[in-house]
Amino acid sequence: MSTPESAPLSTAPRPRALAGQTAIVTGASSGIGRSVAIGLAAAGANVVVNYVGGADAAAAVAAEIERAGGTAIPVRADVSQEAEVQAMFRAAIAAFGTVHILVNNAGLQRDAPIEEMSLADWERVVGVNLTGQFLCAREAVREFKRRGLQPELSRALGKIICMSSVHEVIPWAGHANYAASKGGVALLMKTLAQELAPRRIRVNSIAPGAIRTPINRPAWETPEALERLLRLIPSKRIGEPEDIAEAAVWLASDASDYVNGATLFVDGGMTLYPGFEDNG
Ligand code: BGC
Repeated sequence: MSTPESAPLSTAPRPRALAGQTAIVTGASSGIGRSVAIGLAAAGANVVVNYVGGADAAAAVAAEIERAGGTAIPVRADVSQEAEVQAMFRAAIAAFGTVHILVNNAGLQRDAPIEEMSLADWERVVGVNLTGQFLCAREAVREFKRRGLQPELSRALGKIICMSSVHEVIPWAGHANYAASKGGVALLMKTLAQELAPRRIRVNSIAPGAIRTPINRPAWETPEALERLLRLIPSKRIGEPEDIAEAAVWLASDASDYVNGATLFVDGGMTLYPGFEDNG
């Protein structure tokens, strides 16, 4: 017998699959977060454009969303700070009533060889990339439970998407803090997925490869650097932020309702041991 939860999902296209839902996208003033915010808004979600520096850039993202007919507000919060995260959720709830989708995207690099890596740089990277994801996920779960299921909007009580990296599996010399933070995200995500699945909260990760954003500008801004980078990418192109936005919209929507605890690598094959293309 089919219950509402087990009824087959329609495969008809859902152009505004997130209509009526609210998403918080952390680190949304540039790069991947910006594109994800725009993508979720185009799919119908109200979007909180979180930023920490760059108020103007965040306001521009919100304005771009509004110009396209969407709804967005910029909200400043350093995701590594508990009180600021809680204030961001209060602002989201004040503006839109609740939160249905959290995209834990805020992240940064502070690269250095291990013997030169300062404790401050270790703590900043782990604080934003890992502790920030914990703090935001915890507030999201509290809000999902408070609000309760809204079956007319989604089969899920809530969706959490963690922005990881290919470096949750690929070790990365000179980036010990970053790789450790993303390795941490991998098991944070899976543990939360296991813990929360019975409450109909879905938790998944996207693991981007090399995406053309400010974080890795030196890796693509000159033809020589790009040529070196492409040796690591079987698809032979650098990723664009929109490649990640497409995946985020899908993971946020009921089209992926049976996907929980998964890491979706969006990396042009970077994790496929490209050194073996013509070797071994
Ligand atoms: C890093 C980028 C890097 C990419 C592939 C990302 O997680 O932030 O700087 O280009 O991984 O190595």
